[in-house]
Amino acid sequence: MRSALTLLLIGWGVLAQENWIQRTMTCGTHCSQGLHCNARPHFTLAPCKRSQALINSTVLHNLKVSTVMKCEKKQNCSLHLKVTATVQINELLRGVSVCTASPSMLEHCRVVTFPRKARARLAGQLVEVQDDCVIEVSPSQNVQVTLRTFPDYCDMTLSRAYRVQGCDNADLRSHVPSCITGKIAYAVDMDRREISVRVSDMLEDRNYHLRLCHRWDICSGTEAYTLLRREDPFKNATLRFFSPLPCLCIEGWTSMVDAPRIQVCPFKNRTEELWSGVTFDSEKGALSWEPGCPVKAVITLCQREGESDCEDLANSTQTTGRKKVTYARVDPHPKLCMKFTTDAGSWIKCPFSDRNFLEWDLMMTEGQGQPQATLTSRIRTKLSLQVCQNGQPLECGEITSVTVEKMSPVPVNLTGDICQPDVCIRVRRADVQFSTHVLQCHLQCTRNRQYLCRADWIFVSAFTFVTLMIIAGLAGNIMLTVYQKRQANRRHARYHQYEHTAGKS
Ligand SMILES: *[C@@H]1O[C@H](CO)[C@@H](O)[C@H](O)[C@H]1NC(C)=O
Ligand SMILES: *[C@@H]1O[C@H](CO)[C@@H](O)[C@H](O)[C@H]1NC(C)=O
Ligand SMILES: *[C@@H]1O[C@H](CO)[C@@H](O)[C@H](O)[C@H]1NC(C)=O
Ligand SMILES: *[C@@H]1O[C@H](CO)[C@@H](O)[C@H](O)[C@H]1NC(C)=O
Ligand SMILES: *[C@@H]1O[C@H](CO)[C@@H](O)[C@H](O)[C@H]1NC(C)=O
Ligand SMILES: *[C@@H]1O[C@H](CO)[C@@H](O)[C@H](O)[C@H]1NC(C)=O
Repeated sequence: MRSALTLLLIGWGVLAQENWIQRTMTCGTHCSQGLHCNARPHFTLAPCKRSQALINSTVLHNLKVSTVMKCEKKQNCSLHLKVTATVQINELLRGVSVCTASPSMLEHCRVVTFPRKARARLAGQLVEVQDDCVIEVSPSQNVQVTLRTFPDYCDMTLSRAYRVQGCDNADLRSHVPSCITGKIAYAVDMDRREISVRVSDMLEDRNYHLRLCHRWDICSGTEAYTLLRREDPFKNATLRFFSPLPCLCIEGWTSMVDAPRIQVCPFKNRTEELWSGVTFDSEKGALSWEPGCPVKAVITLCQREGESDCEDLANSTQTTGRKKVTYARVDPHPKLCMKFTTDAGSWIKCPFSDRNFLEWDLMMTEGQGQPQATLTSRIRTKLSLQVCQNGQPLECGEITSVTVEKMSPVPVNLTGDICQPDVCIRVRRADVQFSTHVLQCHLQCTRNRQYLCRADWIFVSAFTFVTLMIIAGLAGNIMLTVYQKRQANRRHARYHQYEHTAGKS
């Protein structure tokens, strides 16, 4: 069956009012009150002057900084700082100077001068001064703007820190080349493990790169890459992926130096995919999990009881972000599971549940008129056995340690007390660091002294046990990679709305 494909076009939102940047055609200088003012570059190292006449007066007011856009073509606009201020005209002032400085830039100044005649005419009045293009700036640039009198009288400066809009601004994203990333729409075909990508609104007359990458600190590439040529009528491509990991992203960028990149991650929400990287080294008994993406998770081993209960094993908690987590010497028991907890929830993976990993077992038998617990194993191991009183909590007696050789059952003599109701036998492996226990309760001694179990334990006959060991023996001894079962219901491609991120990498 073919998956239905639907392309999702990503809404960029209507250009909100606060996102709109003022346009300027000519980079002019304007003054109110019919004052003809002129601007020119200015450079001085002279120290400021002191003036007795100006000492108690304020001549500079209302310094305002904003960004304006100057456009050559629709997709080729540059950003400039516009500065406005109110100045009280005084015959001592020939004008005002505006200086801009950035962390990575030398100070750059311009001076706006007033004609001498006008200074006399407008003395004492307030005039609004506006310089449209004090300096060309780049997105997200931090600028310090300082307004001084000209000539420079001391203690009369006004200053503002300003940050230019970034490429997250929709107006910049559409018109400033260093912000134009193109827009990406995609559809996923889970059956074929393919993502169909369509690009729009990219820089015209340029080639465009598309690839899949895994986002850790940087986005590192997978094999999937394609170049969309500027002459191609269709700006689309199909990229193949291996695993739908949350950090798998589609990355696109224009073919030019320092091009901004767009990254879209179609499987962002599929946290459960991360728990597929569980492996078991049967030789060393080491259970490991390697994250496929950076994720903050708390990992514990637990013993599964029933469908949803999983009781934590003591001292098995590990926290990880990005490193492989290993538990050395683990008993690969069907009930032993790994629990992953993140902010988004908890997941339990039981890597040994699907196959017959049972390596050792407990059987109730009778020998020479005595009840016995017979321990069998298909590996050489040490088992610990305890007789317990059933209750909350379980009260257990002393530990009997038994070394069991491969394929040679060991009977352990028990006393008649075992026939009491509420008496249980608890067995676990003692030669590993992490093991689950087997608890057998409600042992019934019948008249002819046979021990039956009623409760939650399956009685495995010697014949079944030998058969199981042969089957398991065939499967054993190889490094086993336990991957999550593919969910059956993945026939249909799923589509997700996503947010875009743009940034230089
Ligand atoms: C400036 O103000 C101070 C205090 O308000 C005053 O003492 C001084 O005389 C003033 N100076 C001039 C030159 O007006
Ligand atoms: C934008 O215009 C300038 C000047 O006309 C030109 O040098 C530059 O290459 C143009 N950039 C793009 C991306 O078209
Ligand atoms: C691109 O789109 C066109 C028209 O929809 C289609 O014919 C073509 O097969 C697509 N190419 C790829 C690589 O998906
Ligand atoms: C867990 O660790 C603590 C401290 O390291 C230790 O005292 C305790 O015996 C450990 N418990 C088990 C069950 O290993
Ligand atoms: C178990 O009991 C039998 C009969 O009383 C005895 O012969 C045997 O040695 C006992 N085994 C152990 C391990 O104590
Ligand atoms: C992820 O989940 C959030 C919240 O449920 C949703 O808004 C977003 O569209 C989802 N993203 C993807 C890529 O599925």
